Amino acid sequence: MTNVAVIGTQWGDEGKGKVVDLLTQGANLVVRFQGGNNAGHTLVVGDDTYALHLVPSGILHPDKTAVIGSGVVIDPVVLIEEIENLRKRGVAITPDNLKISEKAHLILPYHKALDAARESASFGQKIGTTGRGIGPAYEDKASRLGLRAGDLLDLDGFKEKLVRAIVEKNHLLTTLYGQAKIEPDSIVQSAKIWAAALSPFIANTFLIIQKASKTGRHILFEGAQGVQLDIDHGTYPFVTSSNPTTGGVAVGSGIAPRDISSVLGLVKAYTSRVGEGPFPTELVNDIGEKIRNVGREFGTTTGRPRRCGWLDAVVVKAAVELCGIDWLAITKLDVLKGLDELKIATHYVLEGEKIDYVPASISDLAKAEPVYETFKGFDQDITGARSLADLPKEARAYLDRLTELVGAKIALVSVGPERNQTIFAHRFFQ
Ligand code: IMP
Repeated sequence: MTNVAVIGTQWGDEGKGKVVDLLTQGANLVVRFQGGNNAGHTLVVGDDTYALHLVPSGILHPDKTAVIGSGVVIDPVVLIEEIENLRKRGVAITPDNLKISEKAHLILPYHKALDAARESASFGQKIGTTGRGIGPAYEDKASRLGLRAGDLLDLDGFKEKLVRAIVEKNHLLTTLYGQAKIEPDSIVQSAKIWAAALSPFIANTFLIIQKASKTGRHILFEGAQGVQLDIDHGTYPFVTSSNPTTGGVAVGSGIAPRDISSVLGLVKAYTSRVGEGPFPTELVNDIGEKIRNVGREFGTTTGRPRRCGWLDAVVVKAAVELCGIDWLAITKLDVLKGLDELKIATHYVLEGEKIDYVPASISDLAKAEPVYETFKGFDQDITGARSLADLPKEARAYLDRLTELVGAKIALVSVGPERNQTIFAHRFFQ
């Protein structure tokens, strides 16, 4: 049994889609364990580009099972549309290759309305959310007012729970935010359509994952977002409402921590972040602009331009330690071609003191000055590199120093968007 978790080490958008897709070739099950359609993975397969939001990337491989685990929040409208779009493009999706946890919570129209209302309220704290209702859906889960995928299998019970939950929501929407009331009947009508479309896929995914693990099948856990967006360990409150860390794998899919055999940390060769919040190595200049354009750093889900900056080893080291990352996958190294110099932040200076961790207080993080090591840039086209030895010595020096600073080894380097534009230094699932 080899079970590998793929975790974003930064603020998300590390290029997990491509790496998960590559690793899927050796896996039997691919499991999403947190987040929702705030995530977006772009996959390039030959001439085709797929943008996935909820369905695990494994779906593009016909003989794999894609699992949406209990820790995911599902917008049924988005999921149904995504399934239909994939089918239109010839991707086979059946109850055999897509399983939805009966315990996964649903994102309902009032979650989206509340997310939008809060983000625009004059008295609130703007987080820069994706506006997909993620936070309010997780709040309902924690306050035990949520509706789950399994509730779609009993529409009378669904209605009862909905009617109870919506009272408070409508009060907030109308009285506090001056928005329109949402009628429960309209949701009940929609739920009939959702149930018809999704019921065949709803299953006890805990049993499926346990059985796979016990029978020596290989499981790939596909993370969304990144460690600095973790609700407990990220740059709170500018975080998402789930745990994209390795702890979240166990909770959000239903597997014992000891059964996660390897953790692969995804590191973009520079840093990006969307939404609000401090970002010590941000480049608000021509270099940041160049990285954004060359790296096509615009959100898959929202189209928002991403803020770009230098690689931050303090952030990556925190992820390595917190998540038990033994291997790194470096992505988008090709984007850095043509820059005269490259920089890695090795530590920060906060109020005159050297620190090598991400402070919990965001006002401290906002004050933290990154201290950089500078490297010579490289000018060569590296998209054809297929081994570490093929890389220019400047690029290798940059990667070697990163591994030294964070304490993990390189398993893979992505040098372009295509599946074959990849250097493999370590193979999983052998
Ligand atoms: P939410 O997840 O929509 O509530 O957004 C909360 C924060 O997480 C915002 O800063 C978002 O931009 C960020 N976020 C959520 N999902 C992603 C992602 O997939 N990539 C990068 N940032 C994300």
